[in-house]
Amino acid sequence: MVKPRRFEHVLRVAELARDIALAGGLDAERAYLAGILHDVARDLPDHELLRLAPPECDIDSAHPLALHGRAGRTLLEHWGVTDRIILEAVEDHTTGPRAGNPVSACVYIADVSEPGRGVNDDIRALALTDLNAALSRAITSKVIYLQGRHIQVHPRTLQTYRTLQP
Ligand SMILES: [Fe+2]
Repeated sequence: MVKPRRFEHVLRVAELARDIALAGGLDAERAYLAGILHDVARDLPDHELLRLAPPECDIDSAHPLALHGRAGRTLLEHWGVTDRIILEAVEDHTTGPRAGNPVSACVYIADVSEPGRGVNDDIRALALTDLNAALSRAITSKVIYLQGRHIQVHPRTLQTYRTLQP
């Protein structure tokens, strides 16, 4: 489903998601599986993304790539995957994990901080000791970065941001 370079990224995400889950006493097997599956729709053409995940907002319509998490979930459901934890982790990995699914947080953080990215080493290190703090740092810096450049923040990301506020 993905290009060879992407698959290397996918493997690194799965391994890091598993490591973060292990460090936090979470479900490492599900974290690995969700990591393996997270970008299943990433290399599909825009028209396929739009078909699998009808836009919910202007950002989705303008940037179909923003739909690849939700489109991935739809694909997996077509293939018979029923594990809610894994489906949500795939769906939410582009916009931010919803509250109550720490496996999804593992995948989100692994995706933004796997070593091949060359950025967010601090977030990766923090996630291995405090996943919530790492998630808070990752989402907050994303929102502040976008708002500082007057780029619209995805409503789902804002929703995650709000759930993280004390
Ligand atoms: Fe992705």
